[in-house]
Amino acid sequence: MTKILMVCLGNICRSPLAEGILKSKLSKDFIIDSAGTANYHTGSAPDIRSIAVARNYGLDISKLKGRQFVVSDFDTFDLIYVMDESNFKNVVKLARNDQDIAKVNFILNEIHKGENFEVPDPYYGGDQGFENVYQMLDEACEKIAKNLL
Ligand code: 4NP
Repeated sequence: MTKILMVCLGNICRSPLAEGILKSKLSKDFIIDSAGTANYHTGSAPDIRSIAVARNYGLDISKLKGRQFVVSDFDTFDLIYVMDESNFKNVVKLARNDQDIAKVNFILNEIHKGENFEVPDPYYGGDQGFENVYQMLDEACEKIAKNLL
């Protein structure tokens, strides 16, 4: 069964949303998790604005807890989706070999192949930024789920 990890910087805004959205589209047999490249929010719940936008679409992500990406995630997961270029660089820096690197992809490449478009960091913006992020992630996760079924 495919194991998927969503990665952003803090693991409180974008990647917990991606985790919640993808979980809602797949059965419980799939392992789906999220992590941040930074350790600022280890043990924290998602940002209240991510919790709120998820709740607007019927998803409860309030119980998720932030954690930092670790090298062993390359062994645990088959696919590692990053939100932006900086996440990509930070994850690839920790890769031990080409096999690790091959697991890492920009999540929006699922809907815009090879473009390396970014899911913008909504942390310093307003609620509309979280809504935009939700819509991008929902479209990408729909494609990921379809490809796995
Ligand atoms: P995320 O957003 O990477 O989507 O979780 C951020 C959350 C926190 C910070 C930056 C980005 N921060 O600087 O604390």
